[in-house]
Amino acid sequence: MTRFVLAIDQGTTSSRAILFDEAMAVVAIAQQEFLQYYPQSGWVEHDPEDIWTSVVETVRAVLRKADVGADQVAAIGIANQRETVVLWDRQTGKPIHNAIVWQDRRTARACEALKAEGVEPLVSEKTGLILDPYFSGTKIAWLLDHVDGARGRAEKGELLAGTIDSFLIWRLSGGRVHATDATNASRTLLFNIVENRWDDALLDVFNVPASLLPTVHDCAADFGETDSALFGHAIAICGVAGDQHAATIGQACFQPGMVKATYGTGCFAVLNTGTDLVRSQNKLLSTIAYRLNGETTYALEGSIFVAGAAVQWLRDGLGLIKTAEESGQLAQEADGDQRVYLVPAFVGLGAPYWDADARGAIFGLTRATGPRELAMAALESVAYQTADLLDAMHRDWSEGETPVLRVDGGMVVSDWTMQRLADLLDAPVDRPVIQETTALGAAWLAASFVGMWPDRDAFAGTWRCDRQFLPAMNAATRSERLDGWRDAVSRTLSRPA
Ligand code: G3P
Repeated sequence: MTRFVLAIDQGTTSSRAILFDEAMAVVAIAQQEFLQYYPQSGWVEHDPEDIWTSVVETVRAVLRKADVGADQVAAIGIANQRETVVLWDRQTGKPIHNAIVWQDRRTARACEALKAEGVEPLVSEKTGLILDPYFSGTKIAWLLDHVDGARGRAEKGELLAGTIDSFLIWRLSGGRVHATDATNASRTLLFNIVENRWDDALLDVFNVPASLLPTVHDCAADFGETDSALFGHAIAICGVAGDQHAATIGQACFQPGMVKATYGTGCFAVLNTGTDLVRSQNKLLSTIAYRLNGETTYALEGSIFVAGAAVQWLRDGLGLIKTAEESGQLAQEADGDQRVYLVPAFVGLGAPYWDADARGAIFGLTRATGPRELAMAALESVAYQTADLLDAMHRDWSEGETPVLRVDGGMVVSDWTMQRLADLLDAPVDRPVIQETTALGAAWLAASFVGMWPDRDAFAGTWRCDRQFLPAMNAATRSERLDGWRDAVSRTLSRPA
């Protein structure tokens, strides 16, 4: 009987189910968008029931499309939007509130208060992260303190908490398994990435009861199996990783020094630092790249909150384009002499600025500025932000040259954007043949665990380049543009950098 592996890619704006065959080829894809809730400025929520429904429906749809039975699926791998948290009732599985999404800034003041108490050095030492509302810890505390009766119920052991992977595992397993993997755990502010365990001192700092938290496994492990009533047959869940970590795996960035950037809602650049936990001097995060066979591989990460979301804003906010693809065409026709800068700080700025209170701004408008130049500025903002991240990585990573950047995610289909990226980075940019790298990484975790796909080295050998973009901008123009960008950012920050 032909066997398949199923990847669930639960992202910020949509859920996707991708079915791969034994030869690692994509057989079918199903995708469903779900609603975003913005209850107040800087707040972002998801209804966990929407997420759940979209996951179940896309899995059913992809099996139907491919005419494959659940009994032919050897394993499931899950990749998920990270940091977003859900609290749910252990008995009923019902969430007690909407999920608070990674982009949500509601705990900015709580983070400031903790900084004022002087705990940030301790938190960074143990987690590799900084005190920013981006991460899960303060979000869980917010839910415990703002949902009626939640703290009391948590203390009685009636509630469970987790990132989206944990919520899905709980639901998929019919309420039998409360688990997560080391990469998702590493984004919560509660997990000690040096010792690989939930840390009592951190649980104290964030006032989160240990009883809420899932068991932490390697990324390729036994995460239980799906309730057979869901898809007609039980399927083993054997791979879990935060989406950026899954993409790092899917891009085969297994050697120290290799770096990938994924352009989804945000952009996340991840540099493999091997078994060394490198501490950034330039406001990058130290994080767990992946944990396999009990061995932890670390990474430096630069996180940008708005990448594809800037294109969505052109489409849904301004109505300048009907489809995301049009942005590249418009930008191509823009007047290249105009210096229009969009700083897309819609939900503050992430690395390397970490300014939760900054809000977006546009600079350099003239009477001649139109939709084309705005499209160009939106796409260039993504390239400029990547340049900021790689610049910080170069300064933190002294082990020789940072090699070529491997890129993936929805935005990389635009040749114009990738060329501009190479130009502004002054470095080659490699776009792979398989751009479903997040799903591929999740699938590899699960499929290699059940012995269906090759091991790490053989898998890395299957990576193929679709196109390499080489820098073609002259040095003077590049540096003038980068200066203009940095000036625009400095005028957008809520406080001096
Ligand atoms: O840290 C947030 C990240 O995991 C979200 O990824 O692909 O949904 O933008 P994405």
